[in-house]
Amino acid sequence: MTAIPNPEPATFIIFGVTGDLSQRLLLPALYRLFSERAIPEGFAVVGVARKMLRNEGFRTFVRDAITRAYGGVDADAWQRFASRLYYAPGDFSGQGDHGPIALVVQQVEQQHRTGGNRVFYLATPPSTFEGILTTLHKMELVRPGRRNGAWNRVIIEKPFGQNEASSRQLNVLVDRVIGEENIFRIDHYLGKETVQNMLVLRFANTVFEPIWDRRYVDHVQITFVEEEGIGGRGRFYEEVGVVRDVVQNHMFQLLAITAMEPPAVFDAEGFRNEKAKVLRAIQPIRPEDAVRGQYGPGVIRGKPVPGYRQEEGISATSMTPTYAAMRLAIDNWRWAGVPFYLRAGKRLHKKDTEIVVVFRQPPLRLFKDFDTSGMDPNILVLNTTEEEKILLSFAARVPGHQQQIRSVALDFDYARFGPAEHPPYEHLLLDVLRGMRRFFPRRDEVELQWTIVDPLLEHWDASPPADFPNYPAGSQGPAAAEEFLIRDGRQWKTG
Ligand SMILES: NC(=O)c1ccc[n+]([C@@H]2O[C@H](COP(=O)([O-])OP(=O)(O)OC[C@H]3O[C@@H](n4cnc5c(N)ncnc54)[C@H](OP(=O)(O)O)[C@@H]3O)[C@@H](O)[C@H]2O)c1
Repeated sequence: MTAIPNPEPATFIIFGVTGDLSQRLLLPALYRLFSERAIPEGFAVVGVARKMLRNEGFRTFVRDAITRAYGGVDADAWQRFASRLYYAPGDFSGQGDHGPIALVVQQVEQQHRTGGNRVFYLATPPSTFEGILTTLHKMELVRPGRRNGAWNRVIIEKPFGQNEASSRQLNVLVDRVIGEENIFRIDHYLGKETVQNMLVLRFANTVFEPIWDRRYVDHVQITFVEEEGIGGRGRFYEEVGVVRDVVQNHMFQLLAITAMEPPAVFDAEGFRNEKAKVLRAIQPIRPEDAVRGQYGPGVIRGKPVPGYRQEEGISATSMTPTYAAMRLAIDNWRWAGVPFYLRAGKRLHKKDTEIVVVFRQPPLRLFKDFDTSGMDPNILVLNTTEEEKILLSFAARVPGHQQQIRSVALDFDYARFGPAEHPPYEHLLLDVLRGMRRFFPRRDEVELQWTIVDPLLEHWDASPPADFPNYPAGSQGPAAAEEFLIRDGRQWKTG
């Protein structure tokens, strides 16, 4: 057995520490890892944002964030954690004052025995990534390779670029200032239990892999739908829309894991090579292979909610899609002729993220005199929403005199492993401290993901839709998305 490397001591420097992501996910994840002693004592956090705060004010701010996440703090653990929290105000948007960051990091390193290792987390708007990286490089806070024997790693949030050209430009900068070996492009979907379990399901079992191809699989559906709207993130969402927000990154990663070949070795390069091969085999999306939508006013859980154009920060004539469905073709030996359908959207009737593998009908319809109206083809569902579960349906004869066959399900609920739940950010932050790159997409993956969606996004920009808004909030999405599958003789599964 190869041992997993231990997490190493380090200073976490979080840019955008006052933002939504840091408050809701990063700070609570670091607190929990530290309080469970999953990360070493040689650890400290330096928070960076433009807002003026002192260390004491920052500690109160962090305590509030953790209390909101967990309903309180453990007095002992909090004391140990709080003594490792520092704040360095600074503006990294261009010509602004960078503040005392360099000095604070040096002092913290000496005080907390972090071995000089540094993790820079860019939890700021994507428009700031280049400026922050360039400044950190100029200040000699980061560099490719190691610095006096210590490592420096940079975590960058999605979206990584706005299209292939801008993501390439950002990658060139990354290569120059920190090097590919030090970059961790985070896609938190890769930290989810069920997503990682897709690999185990496929490659640690004998029964699935022999039927995991065009001979037995009719098609695959990947769904990523939410009840939520855009909250206070109107300006951000106007720039990205649904495809850049979740399809180009999370959904393509789910697809790649579902469709990849077994790697020869399950290390970072082996795993990422196989995902990249799948992405390379996906054909650019033609306009006729996709449907777009935008929500209008509607009702969710009995409460009226506004339409997208009525949300804060959104233009009354906005053409930004909040829903997309598409058919992808993977031109390789395993998947030729098997469509992969993706759908994603906001303000829909439920929250759901799932991968559905729909198998072909048996070659012979033997039970011609049976009532088979309740029988579907075999399907395998991996649900990655809060109630993470895996379900396999098969046909069974209904007991009794009537000749009837119905689909029944074998299902596995993650709750069976007990209540302990580690959110994806905990897994991934720990991986960064271990230097494990496996679950962080590589440069070529991100660029390939853009090459798949760029032609569609360009086409959509050039031909504004005439029918927006075209689905009410709380519905199943635009009617065109249903018709899209019906034309192929299929329908969306509900899991
Ligand atoms: N929120 C999520 O659930 C989520 C999920 C996935 C990915 N992401 C990604 O994570 C990043 C952060 O998202 P968010 O929702 O947390 O954004 P946010 O709430 O708008 O927070 C942005 C943070 O960046 C700081 N900031 C902005 N400009 C800065 C500058 N020039 N120099 C230094 N600090 C600056 C802001 O503080 P000041 O204004 O005080 O400087 C604030 O702390 C984005 O790239 C987003 O795409 C977010």
